[in-house]
Amino acid sequence: MAEQAHSFDKNYWDDVWHGDRAMAMAAGQPNPHLIREIGNLAPGTALDAGCGAGIEATWLAARGWEVTAADISADALARAGDRATATGVADRVRWVEADLSTWEPDARYDLVTTHYAHPAMPQLEFYDRIASWVAPGGTLFIVGHLQHGSHGDGSAHGHGHGDHSPPESASATAGAITARLDSASWDVSTARESQRTMVGPDGKELTIHDVVVKAVLRQ
Ligand SMILES: C[S@@+](CC[C@H](N)C(=O)[O-])C[C@H]1O[C@@H](n2cnc3c(N)ncnc32)[C@H](O)[C@@H]1O
Repeated sequence: MAEQAHSFDKNYWDDVWHGDRAMAMAAGQPNPHLIREIGNLAPGTALDAGCGAGIEATWLAARGWEVTAADISADALARAGDRATATGVADRVRWVEADLSTWEPDARYDLVTTHYAHPAMPQLEFYDRIASWVAPGGTLFIVGHLQHGSHGDGSAHGHGHGDHSPPESASATAGAITARLDSASWDVSTARESQRTMVGPDGKELTIHDVVVKAVLRQ
């Protein structure tokens, strides 16, 4: 069932990270798109925007990336810090509690990645923002919720941490994302809409609809 319209503001995310879904969200596996598309990239500096419980940030750090991992929720970051410590990579992750719709980084990154972060600001404008944080020669990697109208079969979207579907405002298509990446500056190597299945927290199989975009900022 689609979520009711509401703002994806700090209160919303604090409630999520205090609530029933938090345990399942913190227990997932690293995003398969990230593993597939970034696994062979030489490590450098990385920003994980909306890192949640730090599953992807920890995975990147374990592969040699110097990670800045940012989230609006202190509870999410506490879980993330525990994970990094348990994995032995705490020294390679800097955790930042920040609202990414207003935060400005003090550096540009070799990799800027986000997995299903949907803040209160318009989704495509959020992607514009994080794209501006990529260093020349660096990579932008977006995994997001695929827009409803792109499939319309009523199955679940996104991160698979529950059976909710985010509203249109939190979703995008590959074409809508890449249309905002100026071809004079960006080489887009992946613009994919896909579906996958996974077992949800209740043990039931979920179909997940993703949009995946990877682009390199020319030097
Ligand atoms: C659906 S969760 C995904 C978490 C994680 N990336 C994953 O794939 O499991 C979205 C995350 O974005 C964070 N978030 C939402 N709005 C944000 C904002 N304005 N600034 C920073 N983080 C935000 C939430 O707190 C949440 O952890």
